[in-house]
Amino acid sequence: MDSILVKGNGPLKGQIPIAGAKNACLALMPATLLSEEPLTLTNAPRLSDIKTMTELLQSLGAEVSSLQDGQVQALSSHNIDNHVADYEIVRKMRASNLVLGPMLARLGQAVVSLPGGCAIGARPMDLHIHGLEALGAEIELKDGYLHAKAPRGLKGAVIELNFASVGATENIMMAATLAKGTTVIKNAAREPEIVDLAECLKKMGAHIEGAGTSDITIEGVDRLHGATHPVVTDRIELGTYMLAPVIAGGEVELLGGRLDLVGAFVEKLDEAGVDVTETKAGLKVKRRGDRVKAVNVTTEPFPGFPTDLQAQMMALMCTADGTSVLEEKIFENRFMHAPELIRMGAKIDVQGGHATVTGVDRLKGAPVMATDLRASVSLILAGLAAEGETIVNRVYHLDRGYEQVVRKFSGVGAQIERIKGS
Ligand code: EPZ
Repeated sequence: MDSILVKGNGPLKGQIPIAGAKNACLALMPATLLSEEPLTLTNAPRLSDIKTMTELLQSLGAEVSSLQDGQVQALSSHNIDNHVADYEIVRKMRASNLVLGPMLARLGQAVVSLPGGCAIGARPMDLHIHGLEALGAEIELKDGYLHAKAPRGLKGAVIELNFASVGATENIMMAATLAKGTTVIKNAAREPEIVDLAECLKKMGAHIEGAGTSDITIEGVDRLHGATHPVVTDRIELGTYMLAPVIAGGEVELLGGRLDLVGAFVEKLDEAGVDVTETKAGLKVKRRGDRVKAVNVTTEPFPGFPTDLQAQMMALMCTADGTSVLEEKIFENRFMHAPELIRMGAKIDVQGGHATVTGVDRLKGAPVMATDLRASVSLILAGLAAEGETIVNRVYHLDRGYEQVVRKFSGVGAQIERIKGS
């Protein structure tokens, strides 16, 4: 397994290009199952998770071609000859469950392995099942697989989610595009990735209103046609790289960065003493003084502070002036980066869903281990500010969600390299 070596090397300067959103692309790709006509996605990120989704869709009979070095995904589901999403693929990536809604709508049946738990939590699917059953699907759990069928097609319904689940909103919205009649999703997730998916579905001929708000209305249609759609900018990659000049010093411009995608995050950075300026090319970020102030953070569904930026913010708070409390309200086990940061001299006390961080003057480089996608990049951020060398092991986690991470960090002066593992 490869590792990444990073050395604290002082202030950063330059530009970092931000890619298309992994979590938008992983919902957009299964949308191909809703139509017999081709779907082309541009500005696609080059990530191992996209390769996993490609493998899954191909296993169902879809054709997926990766063009222009992976930045264009050309998909076609002219003949789907398999409706079983195999455990071997689904267990690698929870987002595989996003083929459930589209397959049900298109084929009237689907067999999708339960993803099983992952490092950050149990990841149940009760909200997905509740919504799809409301649309008339019969769903049974057998041998770890969800067996879903809708022999008489799907019928519009009013569905209230007791939690604004991103994946459940996406599965239900995609299924509802081909249901008979009107579907209303209440307490829907409001993430930009939901808006992006709705925009793409509307280009395919779907009738959707309200994406981005808590109430989404979908008028079912008989069929959807092909489309070409650009994947929205990745707000989590954006937020991650915004923290590089904040933790290491200097000034960096994030190309393609959009303020509307990171509102709550930028508010917190402002409170901590960070200037974020809109430029023609994106967002420019610079720490106001020599050290940020400690701030408290609570993760919430969009438009609140994103859980996917909690680990990165914790790394910053380890170097802040004062004590901050980070409350993780989305996932039950998303502080695994804390023991690794403590190995670097951080002062963190984790009690259930709260982590209390007391800033230290300087972190110390150390060998650390990546435990999940976002935790791994928080360790690199910490390494940028630490004295000496930090080696982040198990970086396959990183490859899932961050393309060309060494190139992007070294492009602004970070001393970072990838070490080939055995
Ligand atoms: C999406 O996961 C993202 N993944 C996650 O990003 C992100 O952290 C999460 O949304 C929250 O923003 C993709 O989009 C591919 P949820 P998803 O359904 O859809 C509980 C990353 O690092 N829940 O909003 O799985 C669940 O257990 C990844 O890029 C139920 O209880 O998130 C969790 O505690 C990590 N029942 C909470 O809701 C359900 O049926 C949030 O889940 C579904 C979810």
